[in-house]
Amino acid sequence: MLKLNYRNTNIDVIGSEHGLDLSFEFTQYAPAIKKIITDLNLRKDKPGQWLQWMNLGYSEETVWYVKEFAAMVEGRFDNILILGIGGSALGGLALTEALLKPYWNLLSTSDRENYPRIFFLDNIDPDQIEALLDMLNLKRTLVNVITKSGSTAETMAQFMVIKDRLQKELGDDYRKAVVATTDAEVGVLRQLSNEEGYKTFTVPDDIGGRFSVFSAVGLLPLALVGIDVDEIIEGVKNMDLALKNTDIYQNIAAQSALIHFLLDTQKGKNLSVMMPYSSRLRYIPDWYAQLKAESLGKEVDKNGNKINNGPTPIRAVGATDQHSQLQLYTEGPNDKVITFIKVDNFNKTLDIPKIFEYTGIGYLGGKTMNQLLNAELDATTVALCDYNRPNITIEIPEITPYYLAQLLYMLEIETAISGELYNINAFDQPAVDQTKNYTYALMGRIGYEDSAQHIKEIKELGEQQVIKYN
Ligand code: PA5
Repeated sequence: MLKLNYRNTNIDVIGSEHGLDLSFEFTQYAPAIKKIITDLNLRKDKPGQWLQWMNLGYSEETVWYVKEFAAMVEGRFDNILILGIGGSALGGLALTEALLKPYWNLLSTSDRENYPRIFFLDNIDPDQIEALLDMLNLKRTLVNVITKSGSTAETMAQFMVIKDRLQKELGDDYRKAVVATTDAEVGVLRQLSNEEGYKTFTVPDDIGGRFSVFSAVGLLPLALVGIDVDEIIEGVKNMDLALKNTDIYQNIAAQSALIHFLLDTQKGKNLSVMMPYSSRLRYIPDWYAQLKAESLGKEVDKNGNKINNGPTPIRAVGATDQHSQLQLYTEGPNDKVITFIKVDNFNKTLDIPKIFEYTGIGYLGGKTMNQLLNAELDATTVALCDYNRPNITIEIPEITPYYLAQLLYMLEIETAISGELYNINAFDQPAVDQTKNYTYALMGRIGYEDSAQHIKEIKELGEQQVIKYN
């Protein structure tokens, strides 16, 4: 099981100005937490609550279809190309980076055990797209286009470029190289898939992009490169069962949510850093940043009061950022809570050979890189405590599909509980939608003329204030 070590947020370690009296707070909030967890589990099956992701640990059918498709295409493709953005890309990216052998795309086919390379195109940089297309043999590439709405400009523009190139290379057979993951009924991609005859997977109703990693959105890319999706779903299910416990003393998602909430609202720690001590986990903070920012960053609470809520997520990786950001975290403004992720057992043990006798480095010889990395984490937590900086450590036994699924699902439940503590709707994203609409307007989509006019006015205002240098 995962462990949550929150000792370094307690007053006895970092003092009462910056720390929490956790035994008091846990007792105080126990009834509220019990109610929140009970309510979430009662509401989860009701339409319109956007809580269907809480059922994904039990979605054996999806797992079966995903595995069936992966088995069917096995050996046919050298490359998987994922088109998607935000919640449609970040979960798959974070999990493949963590679970595949490092430098996967550079390995030989036999070192990849004949599984394909995988590329996530989650931006629309023309230079990057052209470079990727120059490199990929499209005749041996399976394209998985993922968009729940089926109309996100970035994803659909990518798809239009790639469909055109695929068709030129493969003729009508290009259809066999496309698999679409989208809403069951709504959206252009669904319509297009029906008309063109693409293989499709469904993003179930009432699951927002950032909560969709355990649907076909994340599972299909994982299965295509040979990651054990049964283990993933088992991890989600077991974590879900554990987190149904309404007792705050037994529920790590509730503990983490409450501690972050209190540190933000009572102690001014409104910056939330996630820092795994593992390069393979380096994209987990990217996934978590989206989950946290889009879920908790809201203008109004559930009663319509303007609150402009939300802790700002920050991404870091240890030990690298010890030599970059840590100086600020330790001596700069005391406005952060740092969540470390510690891996108890790495897959490999790397010995540091005893080859130098110099006093300055001789002590390293005979130790392992594993010891050094975890010693650096311990050193960082102690240094932070010396400066009364709250920090939490999530410990995972090892990097496996099972434990990573547990970690991500725990963070999803933590986010849902946080939303209730802040009394905000954690499941909408009006500002993301507004930007999408403005993009449609700027690109001349019919029906967005009012937005186009508004943008024109704002731009004209801006242009009057621009200072021009020759
Ligand atoms: O979490 C969200 O809802 C968003 O970040 C979406 O995932 C993102 O905007 C992409 O949307 P779509 O899957 O509709 O293309």
